[in-house]
Amino acid sequence: MNAPPSPAPRWDPHAYEARASFVTRLGEDALALLDPQPGERILDLGCGTGEHVAALAARGCLVEGIDADPAMIARARERYPTLTFRLARGEQFSVDQPLDAVFSNAALHWMTAPEAVARCVFAALRPGGRFVGELGARGNVAQLRAALEHALTKFGIPRSALPQPWYFPTPAEYATLLERVGFTVEVLLAFARPTPLAGEDGLVAWYRIFAVDYLRLVPPEQQAAVLARAEQLARPQCWIDGCWVADYSRLRFRARRPLTGLSPGTGPSAPEALPAPTAADRPA
Ligand code: BEZ
Repeated sequence: MNAPPSPAPRWDPHAYEARASFVTRLGEDALALLDPQPGERILDLGCGTGEHVAALAARGCLVEGIDADPAMIARARERYPTLTFRLARGEQFSVDQPLDAVFSNAALHWMTAPEAVARCVFAALRPGGRFVGELGARGNVAQLRAALEHALTKFGIPRSALPQPWYFPTPAEYATLLERVGFTVEVLLAFARPTPLAGEDGLVAWYRIFAVDYLRLVPPEQQAAVLARAEQLARPQCWIDGCWVADYSRLRFRARRPLTGLSPGTGPSAPEALPAPTAADRPA
């Protein structure tokens, strides 16, 4: 059964489509790593407004998109009425039939219980099935975030009240997590990907789409002033040759559920699989 998604609305699908279409476009390399084949059963985890689901369907895959945000799922269904979308959280989903692959672009970092996500993915895959995706790496959008956090503190928000909306692991952390769940990690790339944000208001538009958890700390009538301050603070690092550039940093990976082995969640290094130490384990 899927838990109800968070009640706080986070996403505006129309603003997302108008100002964040680069998210899907820049996910194409991750899609290439997936190497989808006609007839494969694939789930897009955190499908947003559905573009990658449509791309996979066009390649002959049997694809379903899931997302935790009702507005994004509603918009995906409106755009692609013949395709399959479902409201579900990455931390708590299941499928009726084992999948050949789970794909996820720029969504896993919004799921702040990453091991629960990886365990659901593992359980959803057939033996030999693959988990392919891209997410923010440690340090992702650090400059954008620091500017906004600093601006908010100038407007009286204590640091202790700042949210932690994102999970940005190091490559080692993410590989360890995947292996603990039972995956074999085949590819894991970490790289900086400075990302231009179109328009003079590109940075403010980015904050309004992606930093909603921060902006809701101040009343709507104060938000423009906070964002103006954040722009000022970010400008020396992020306004480059007449364009806002976001300091994105990525992890791209392909992991596989082994063909044989243990059932989901009982991987050899899963902490709960280890027996408690006994007196015999201690050095004399
Ligand atoms: C990302 O795709 O890396 C990202 C986008 C918005 C907020 C945080 C991360």
